[in-house]
Amino acid sequence: MPTTTSVDVDLLSDTLTKPTQEMRAAMAAAPVGDDVFGEDPTVRELEARVAALLGHEAALFTPTGSMANQLGLRLHVKPGEELIADSLAHVLRAELGAAAVLSGISSRSWVAHRGLLDASQPLGLMTPSGGAYQVNTRLVVVENTHNFGGGTVQPLEEMRALWEGTRGRGVSLHLDGARLWNAHVATGIALSEYGRLFDTVSVCLSKGLGAPIGSVLAGSADHMAEARVWRKRFGGGMRQVGILAAAGLHALDHHVERLAEDHARAHRFAAAAAQAAPGSVDPETVQTNIVILHVAVAGWTADAFVAAAADHGIRLYPVSGTAVRLVWHLDVDDTATDRAIAALAPLLESGPPST
Ligand SMILES: Cc1ncc(COP(=O)(O)O)c(C=O)c1O
Repeated sequence: MPTTTSVDVDLLSDTLTKPTQEMRAAMAAAPVGDDVFGEDPTVRELEARVAALLGHEAALFTPTGSMANQLGLRLHVKPGEELIADSLAHVLRAELGAAAVLSGISSRSWVAHRGLLDASQPLGLMTPSGGAYQVNTRLVVVENTHNFGGGTVQPLEEMRALWEGTRGRGVSLHLDGARLWNAHVATGIALSEYGRLFDTVSVCLSKGLGAPIGSVLAGSADHMAEARVWRKRFGGGMRQVGILAAAGLHALDHHVERLAEDHARAHRFAAAAAQAAPGSVDPETVQTNIVILHVAVAGWTADAFVAAAADHGIRLYPVSGTAVRLVWHLDVDDTATDRAIAALAPLLESGPPST
């Protein structure tokens, strides 16, 4: 979303973070090898560490979250079979049809307010034994936290119910945990408690954790061996990428607990926005680093609000015709948050200029 005005406060996405000097130093010092041959010691260290954190046997480093997700989907669903996910899920909305294009996977969805999981919805929707007439459901995908839902943290008990309801029925579970770190920091629930309720889990190092690139898929050793073959087939076999894995290891050491600061800032912004335009956001629902602001409540279209914010040097993302998304991250501090409040609260209060 290029703008012509200079950007002072960039709330477009937590993918914008730039590697810190310390992270760059860790990258420069990393021992490396050829990872296609499984010989990069830093990649191996990262994979082992993430697998253990998520309570799984093995893991695989990938360039992107989309590739980690697509490998996960591929493992569980054959061409002509289906996955189901909520209608706002990243795998359905923002991976450009990759499941269909790369793996011949059919998809269906259920509608979930704020992306919040209610296990009875996928359990009611799935058709594990479709026979020769209905498409067989082979996978349910859950996103935690939920990006387009507004950083929603999924309830552990709903994920448990989904686990119990799918076992022994030929339906696997994949967790799109691009921001699972945020859920862990917001709730204090161990990453492995979440991870163990899924057959495969993807996590991203390149979002709030601040690495320039990198995601990890975790699962059983057999699944990861198969995913390694498909990663190469998809063109994602990488060579001396310990320099990138080192950024991820550094992020795990230094950038996880600090996500609480992003959450506090997002919440502070949401409280100010709710005061300026009641109903535009419920601060109680802002659990992590993402705020979905329903600007139509204040008479704005999303595009007009994004343009007005840009005039104040603030960059946002329109998630629909009526709502915008603001994302807090490593490079947005308290002062920047104050600036965002000072610029955007009056816009919400006044509504758009009359024409
Ligand atoms: C929930 C979720 N899953 C997956 C991805 C894909 O990550 P990448 O952009 O690295 O492909 C994103 C990206 O923003 C995301 O928000």
